[in-house]
Amino acid sequence: MESSYCFLHLFLLLLLLLLLLFFSLTSATDSKNNPADQLVAVINSNRTSHKSSSLFDNAGLGCIALQYIKAYQGQCGEVGDNKKPPDSSFVDTFAPNCGVEASTLAPITGRLLACQSTYPPPEEAFNILIDSAKSLQILHDKNHTEVGAAVSGTDGGSPYFWCVLFSNGKANSSFVLPNGVAKTVRPGCFSGNDDDCSGASSLSGGLWTMIVGVLVAVACVVVF
Ligand SMILES: *[C@@H]1O[C@H](CO)[C@@H](O)[C@H](O)[C@H]1NC(C)=O
Ligand SMILES: *[C@@H]1O[C@H](CO)[C@@H](O)[C@H](O)[C@H]1NC(C)=O
Ligand SMILES: *[C@@H]1O[C@H](CO)[C@@H](O)[C@H](O)[C@H]1NC(C)=O
Repeated sequence: MESSYCFLHLFLLLLLLLLLLFFSLTSATDSKNNPADQLVAVINSNRTSHKSSSLFDNAGLGCIALQYIKAYQGQCGEVGDNKKPPDSSFVDTFAPNCGVEASTLAPITGRLLACQSTYPPPEEAFNILIDSAKSLQILHDKNHTEVGAAVSGTDGGSPYFWCVLFSNGKANSSFVLPNGVAKTVRPGCFSGNDDDCSGASSLSGGLWTMIVGVLVAVACVVVF
């Protein structure tokens, strides 16, 4: 009798979980809310107003930019010190983690990286990334043909990394993803994919799972 109460609770909570899942899936089809895409838009509008070409937003390169961030393992202090992941990581870890075909990797012609303890929205991130004559030169470089951007907080929280990678590869034959879809690489957001992604609150999914888990536990403890 008492355990059947617990099953009733479990059933209701599962129902709630399914509803939450349903709503998170329906909102995932809206791709307007992606800060990495918004940063690419700011970059392209700045480039075109300075007579440089608009760059192709390559999802494979965007995913690799997110992997690039993860190579720092949340170590904000290592940004800017000329410390960067070894070039071999592109072939060895970044490409396989994203599902990018290694044979389609193209040269990286520029990289911009920033790290902040509070979340800077895309326009602000742009100003933080472009903080010197050197980074301005990278931004306006005529050699780039495509770009990938990513933002991530370590495990969905502070510190927040922004990364932009530029390449001179051909738009549709470099950083190729099978069927055009990158492997799931959360937490974090990257440009070029049709993904709804909020840089500041990518932890909400995990939070809901936790809340439901706690409710189930409480329900069972109370009943028994
Ligand atoms: C482009 O970005 C640079 C660096 O932030 C800035 O100085 C310049 O005013 C921007 N150009 C336009 C047209 O907004
Ligand atoms: C652009 O490419 C040319 C030819 O490959 C090279 O000589 C030049 O240094 C590059 N410019 C920059 C800013 O990297
Ligand atoms: C690459 O893009 C061009 C034009 O955008 C198109 O004609 C060509 O078929 C594409 N190639 C592949 C392999 O998708």
